[in-house]
Amino acid sequence: MMNKPRALKRKLDLIRTRSEQKEAMKLKRRLDEKTERTATLKPTDWKSVSVKHAEKFQKLLELWESDPESITIVNDNGVCFKKEFAIGSGSYGTEVYICLGSDGIERAIKRLPKLLCEKFLKNERDILNSRNAVDSPRIVNYCFYDDTSNPDFGYLILSLNEQNLEEFIREEGESMTESGATKMIRQVLEGLKALHTREPRILHRDLKPTNILVDVHGNLLLSDFVMGRFFPEQGATTYHTSNESGSHGWVAYECIDWGGLFSHKARNPSDTPIQLRWKEKSDIQVAGMLSFYILTEGKHPLGPKIVRLMNLHANNPKHLRDLSDPVVTDLLSQMLARDLDQRPYVEQALKHPYFLSLEEQMKFVEAVGNEPKLKNFCAVYRQLNNLDPSKPRSRLLPKDWKTVIGHDDLDTLCRGGHRSPSEYNGSRYTDCLRLIRNTFQHRDGKLSQLKKKTPATSSLEEYFFQLFPKLPFVLHQIIRECPDWKTRPALKEFFPVVDRHAVTDAD
Ligand SMILES: Nc1ncnc2c1ncn2[C@@H]1O[C@H](COP(=O)(O)OP(=O)(O)OP(=O)(O)O)[C@@H](O)[C@H]1O
Ligand SMILES: [Mg+2]
Repeated sequence: MMNKPRALKRKLDLIRTRSEQKEAMKLKRRLDEKTERTATLKPTDWKSVSVKHAEKFQKLLELWESDPESITIVNDNGVCFKKEFAIGSGSYGTEVYICLGSDGIERAIKRLPKLLCEKFLKNERDILNSRNAVDSPRIVNYCFYDDTSNPDFGYLILSLNEQNLEEFIREEGESMTESGATKMIRQVLEGLKALHTREPRILHRDLKPTNILVDVHGNLLLSDFVMGRFFPEQGATTYHTSNESGSHGWVAYECIDWGGLFSHKARNPSDTPIQLRWKEKSDIQVAGMLSFYILTEGKHPLGPKIVRLMNLHANNPKHLRDLSDPVVTDLLSQMLARDLDQRPYVEQALKHPYFLSLEEQMKFVEAVGNEPKLKNFCAVYRQLNNLDPSKPRSRLLPKDWKTVIGHDDLDTLCRGGHRSPSEYNGSRYTDCLRLIRNTFQHRDGKLSQLKKKTPATSSLEEYFFQLFPKLPFVLHQIIRECPDWKTRPALKEFFPVVDRHAVTDAD
């Protein structure tokens, strides 16, 4: 006779095996379905754009074909979370990989431990999803957010870029042209303009070379909005916080707890919390540091890491002296100023002569020349003509402008006007402005007859600014010190007045 308990156990074992088998079958079916779905999502039409990451995409597609199980699908994008597909990493365990959409479009996926999604990734999603970011080509494009499909990680899918600015400067900084650098600096500021100038306004708060991306055409985009913040209310100009953030060497003066840095004592939890102020101009000061970095193949205006904080505290961006162009030095010394009143808003920085096209520079020069206020012995007249020993004219202008133009070309330029060459005074730049204005009024055929020009000179603007490249800048320097000039109808566009309380949320 069979032992009863043993028989029961065997029976039970059989049942368990059967139910386990059923479970296993179910699981296998689910996996098969998943693999099948992954296989069907493999794009048939890969829209290859990236140069740097092309090989990775090629490998990803091969893997997708040969081993679809190793591909994870996030919102119809395929990604393999293996080192060979990684393109970046950051703090808090952030990893960034390439991913390919079933629509064939190349994207990037940022992966963060789930615990940090609420604090960081959602914040970044909300900012990237706001209209200031969405509408701007200078802010990285947001595609999708997911914090539910995986128990351990959250994902942010973004448009793909080639590399970050640090990598770009390391690889290509040496061959960068002056105009290439100007374009990049302007693009950083255009990114800030998108964030700062329309409600709801946004602070970036973590600008640094690794948080600026370079696309396949060499254009810059602001990225990494983990630390970004919306201003607390419309028209607000400060975001107050007691938490220090940002990366060493890339934080503005007013966002640093100097008291703590200079104190011997550790803070007590009972101490009054520190008060840090984040302003739009905080992003501007760091953009000034980035601009210097772009211009100098990766150097910092405050020097090597060990002295940066001290130089920031002492208002001593000492390496600005290393720049040879006085125009960009002037712009950066304003952007880097410790005093907030001396720092420009982004709209003001973008109107600096450094960024003006030849046509805009000429418009400015003509506007000054046509200004009815430019009468004998007003302050601008006296400085331009070097009549005031207490305010000598800038050495950036040649002493005698007539000599620079030369007799023959002066004859050509005066043709058709009411003044003969002898009626112009070479030491008076108000006369130079007058000649420029008269030339433009009777311009026909003059350019081709000028002798002092290069074969490539294609316009009268180009001709004049080849001879007097710093004229718009010197005029700008003089006029920005004259409150009643800056607001003149023809000049005010070059000296924007910014009042954030008046910003509306209208387009
Ligand atoms: N859309 C993208 N395209 C290409 N590369 C990217 C993209 N997004 C991020 N990367 C790369 O991944 C790196 C890390 O990304 P990100 O700066 O967003 O992470 P983070 O953890 O927030 O960084 P941090 O260390 O500044 O806090 C970037 O420096 C860049 O090299
Ligand atoms: Mg980053």
